[in-house]
Amino acid sequence: SQVDVDPASYDAGEHDSFMHKEILEQPARAEAVLRGRLDERFGTGHLGGLNLDARELRAIRRVKILGCGSAYYVGQMGASLLEELARIPADAEAASEFRYRNPIVEPDTLYVAVSQSGETIDTLLAVQEIQRKGGRVIGLVNVVGSAIARQVDGGIYLHAGPEVAVASTKALTNMYLAFAMLAVQLGRVRDLSIADGKRLIAGLTRIPEQIEQVLATEAELAVVAKRLAEAESLFFIGRVRGFPVAREGAQKFKEVSYRHAEAYQTSELKHGPLALISPDVPTVAIVPDDELVERNVAALHEIAARGGPLVVVTHEGVALGDLDGTLAGRIDVPRNERELDPILMTVPLQVLAYHAAQELGHDIDKPRNLAKSVTVE
Ligand code: G6P
Repeated sequence: SQVDVDPASYDAGEHDSFMHKEILEQPARAEAVLRGRLDERFGTGHLGGLNLDARELRAIRRVKILGCGSAYYVGQMGASLLEELARIPADAEAASEFRYRNPIVEPDTLYVAVSQSGETIDTLLAVQEIQRKGGRVIGLVNVVGSAIARQVDGGIYLHAGPEVAVASTKALTNMYLAFAMLAVQLGRVRDLSIADGKRLIAGLTRIPEQIEQVLATEAELAVVAKRLAEAESLFFIGRVRGFPVAREGAQKFKEVSYRHAEAYQTSELKHGPLALISPDVPTVAIVPDDELVERNVAALHEIAARGGPLVVVTHEGVALGDLDGTLAGRIDVPRNERELDPILMTVPLQVLAYHAAQELGHDIDKPRNLAKSVTVE
């Protein structure tokens, strides 16, 4: 079942789909989620709706993030941010699974429910289960006054505006930015230095403009998408910070293109997927210029040696050696602070999915068998 959003009540304007419109809205919506929440002087986030004071923030020993679909994958990105910046053990789990395994709820864990619609039944029931066991839950929710927004003990509204396309784009980007602000704020009541806090806050202020720069390359991304759309099956790979990016990229691609897209950790290639690599199976690889770049590039060679076509999402200046001339695509995203790389690498994957679906002539906004919001079990 689904909450039926009436697209007629909105307007896609000059766009062929809401997905396209919503992808292009991201710079403005990203500004909206950051507005008034960045404290440049103290290098911290200023999230008023958490309903937690500094002492309570300090007492948090663990963070557990729950969501479904893209909200779950961005939750994994959020867990990385929380561990890196705040050094709090954090992980994300599909809300649909969590509830069914008699979860252990601890008083010093902060639970975070992530949902664009605020109506996803599995996420809502997970929140209620946690609260029944005495846990505290905050929400990262887009729709104001939605069921999850009303249920949680505090939270961060995403200010992405109405999202109509089933495949989430702008809401997801704002979920990521909300996690980044939360991680900086939790970090700054712990051991994140003021200098690092300022560095990250400055990085966040650059994001909207940098998303704009990624979107300016749409014509080139469309060419790459056409190539990928020809394949029946593809891999999306990344590791550590890059792995949830690969998962979200595969999710978006399969949702709207109906191609089989599977995400894998780059480090696990040799434990399975390499058996499938061939000239018919392209790989989209997330290769940020970070501490793992050399290992990631070595994995690209493994794929190329087996004739697998490669699309590499990376940064300008990353040397791919003799691979460079052979790639099916190279997508250089702007540099920011390393911790914030995932969001700038996620945006081009949205554009690839959109153009693949367009090339294949699918109903981009309403993929078969899928609902925008799953409100019954
Ligand atoms: C559905 C949609 C996904 C979305 C997920 C969670 O499966 O097709 O695009 O990510 O629900 O939705 P929510 O509203 O809770 O973020």
